Amino acid sequence: MTEKRIRVALIGVGNCASSLVQGLTYYYNGAGNAPAPGVMHEEIGGYRIDSIDICAAFDVHAGKVGRDVSEAILVEPNNTMNFAKVAHIGVNVQRGVTLDGLGRHLSKQFSESSEPSVDIAEELKRARADVVVSYLPVGSQQASEFYAEEAMKAGCAYVNCIPVFLASNAKWRKKFETAKLPIIGDDIKSQVGATIVHRVLASLFKDRGVHLNRTYQLNFGGNTDFLNMLDRERLKSKKISKTQSVNSQLAEPLSSNDIHIGPSDFVPWLEDRKFAHIRMEGTGFGGSPISIDMKLEVWDSPNAAGVVVDAVRCAKLALDRGFGGALVGPSSYFMKSPPQQFIEYEARSRLESFIRGE
Ligand SMILES: NC(=O)c1ccc[n+]([C@@H]2O[C@H](COP(=O)([O-])OP(=O)(O)OC[C@H]3O[C@@H](n4cnc5c(N)ncnc54)[C@H](O)[C@@H]3O)[C@@H](O)[C@H]2O)c1
Repeated sequence: MTEKRIRVALIGVGNCASSLVQGLTYYYNGAGNAPAPGVMHEEIGGYRIDSIDICAAFDVHAGKVGRDVSEAILVEPNNTMNFAKVAHIGVNVQRGVTLDGLGRHLSKQFSESSEPSVDIAEELKRARADVVVSYLPVGSQQASEFYAEEAMKAGCAYVNCIPVFLASNAKWRKKFETAKLPIIGDDIKSQVGATIVHRVLASLFKDRGVHLNRTYQLNFGGNTDFLNMLDRERLKSKKISKTQSVNSQLAEPLSSNDIHIGPSDFVPWLEDRKFAHIRMEGTGFGGSPISIDMKLEVWDSPNAAGVVVDAVRCAKLALDRGFGGALVGPSSYFMKSPPQQFIEYEARSRLESFIRGE
């Protein structure tokens, strides 16, 4: 185990939190190193994956509140892959503040805890949390703003995994700058997920002089994220986030008629698997037509956790360096909606420069 530690607080103990927590056991003591399968960076600024400790967790689900995090991650409707048996952590999930966290679909899936909410900022301070990771459901605008404020009161860095615009919103960026605290956001871009594959294909068309005329990305899965997104009102920010992520790779963004990206349906038997169908239609040399049809199959939550373990370590590195505000390089590589978009290789190079402290 490494000396330098990172104390992480989780907002929402759903599938993504489960994969992150399982990963801390799976990669404990550098297990699977050299090269570690599934890992982008073995070490970041002296921090390894097993430098991360879960010190606090908040949820509103009656079956999760009051339970040790190692047990809460297994409570239904969580349905991601179990790839590690997590030992008792000694951290109980505490009652968070619901606000707009539960939409009409999620609220039918489980009972909301009848316990009173705790004082989030006080609990973060008590837990000596360094980094807060938000895994709230899509559409949690008020809850996201609330937890971000509580994190700042407690002096924590913030990793915003959800498509509510904080790091990419000038007003919220300023708040983190003023508080001299780092934020990485918004909306995690999975390791090899639909977004990065689609971005790379869009970039390929542009680099090779093929004009992209039309494209779609249709995604479906069987986790609560997909169930929640059946509510089209809650889905708006996700669609914006995913569409601008792909459009940013083109010389000229496609008109809304020619690009369609979004979660499309909920298929319960897929559980936490996600299928993405991407079609690209373009014009090549001499006006000749070119098209690509592809399908990606992934486990959604481990795919995100592989990126969050890096985002958390970068957030702690920025905290160590006394940096306040949005981390542009790391956000551009880790997130779909960063404050500034770059093509992937430039985002990667900015991330590496940040890690080296340049
Ligand atoms: N590959 C991915 O899985 C991926 C990629 C990008 C973004 N995301 C985003 O990450 C977020 C989390 O995804 P997930 O699959 O873990 O979702 P999930 O539905 O499995 O978990 C969400 C958890 O938040 C809890 N919650 C709801 N309101 C709350 C509140 N006010 N306070 C505290 N907890 C609350 C729920 O009870 C649930 O346990 C979603 O917004 C999703 O879109 C996921």
